[in-house]
Amino acid sequence: MSSITLMMIKPDAVENGYIGKIIEKVTSSGFKIRALKLTQLSKYDAQRFYYVHRERSFFPDLVNFMSRSPIIAAVLEKKNAVSDFRNLIGSTNPVEADEGTIRNLYASSIAENAVHGSDSDKNAKIEASFHFSGRERF
Ligand code: CMP
Repeated sequence: MSSITLMMIKPDAVENGYIGKIIEKVTSSGFKIRALKLTQLSKYDAQRFYYVHRERSFFPDLVNFMSRSPIIAAVLEKKNAVSDFRNLIGSTNPVEADEGTIRNLYASSIAENAVHGSDSDKNAKIEASFHFSGRERF
C-alpha cells in the first residue's frame, strides 16, 4: 500500500537552480507527485513548521533561512514513502550523506541542506496539510 511524504526544496537549492534536477531525481526514483507549488514561508510559518526544534540553538537561524526566499513544497506518494524518501535525500549533514543522495549532490551544509523530508507517516500528514488545501491535492 502506498503512503505519502512531504518534500520541501529549501531556499538554498531553489536559489542555486536545482529545482529541475531534484524533481527529476525524485520522480525517476518512483515517487508520484500528488501536490506541488512554489511558495515562500513567512517567519511565523517557519516557526510553526519547525516548532519541535524551538529550543534548539540553531532555531533562529533555521527560521531566517527557511523564510529568506521561495521554496518548493510537494506531497509525494510511494510505497514506504517516508523511509524511501529519507534514503533518497541522505543524512541531515551533507558531509555524511551517501554518494548520489540529493544532499550529497546539492547541499552545502547541515543548516542549508537542500531538501526536507517528513520523519514519520503522522508528520507527513500534518506537514502536507500545513502546505496544501484539499483542492490542491490529487
Ligand atoms: P530538516 O531535516 O529539514 O529539519 C530540521 C532542520 O534543522 C534540518 O533539516 C536542518 O536544516 C536544521 N538543522 C538540524 N541540525 C542542525 C544543526 N546542528 N545546525 C544547524 N541546522 C540544523
